[in-house]
Amino acid sequence: TLSPIDTAKFVAAKRAVEFVEDGMKLGLGTGSTAAWMVKLLGERIRTEGLRVTGVPTSSRTAALARQVGVNVVSLDEAKWLDLTIDGADEFDPDLNLIKGGGGALLQEKIVATASDQMLVISDISKQVETLGAFPLPVEVIPFGWQTSKALVEEALSSMDVLGETSTLRMNGDRAFVTDEGNHIIDLHLQRIGNARQLSLVLNQIPGVVENGLFIDICDIVIIGHGDGRVEARD
Ligand code: A5P
Repeated sequence: TLSPIDTAKFVAAKRAVEFVEDGMKLGLGTGSTAAWMVKLLGERIRTEGLRVTGVPTSSRTAALARQVGVNVVSLDEAKWLDLTIDGADEFDPDLNLIKGGGGALLQEKIVATASDQMLVISDISKQVETLGAFPLPVEVIPFGWQTSKALVEEALSSMDVLGETSTLRMNGDRAFVTDEGNHIIDLHLQRIGNARQLSLVLNQIPGVVENGLFIDICDIVIIGHGDGRVEARD
């Protein structure tokens, strides 16, 4: 039996997998909710003979997708995707997102942007009125990361945010390294007044590769509840 939070993730993933049609090219997200989705996709492949091609957004998802029988290809092989299904860390009423809690934001944003549709699967706890309680991940290249971090903090002082501190994401006693060999600076903003502007400003800073704000990318959020109910927002 699943806990309420896992039930919520599971039912959202289950509903999302019903959107998949034979022959589709899919973007496969990263995280615990997306992992349910990949497993349920594998179940449909086995039981219905569904044929799909999947582009994973992380090495973790790639391994899982292969394990459950998804035909895994690179984004450059697939060229364009019908549908991406991914989790999120926060979503607001406009379906703008914070992603990257799992550190896969860069590949996730590239894959979602290369898709006709992005569907987010989430439990209800990630719904917020204004983004920012969840720390915003910013991916920076290792070269000069401390300088990039200082420039990011300086930029925050003129942005409409409540908090202005940032921390280097760690993995034990070493800096966390993404699938692309970069580091992540987590921004503790509490409240992001203008997410679109913040995203543009951050991506202008030398050394910043990408940030975890997904603006106008997500089309539908499927929200799972602890009691097994599912609802969709679009
Ligand atoms: C991965 O980098 C993130 O963007 C995930 O989508 C996010 O952390 C959601 O993970 P869970 O489904 O485990 O909450």
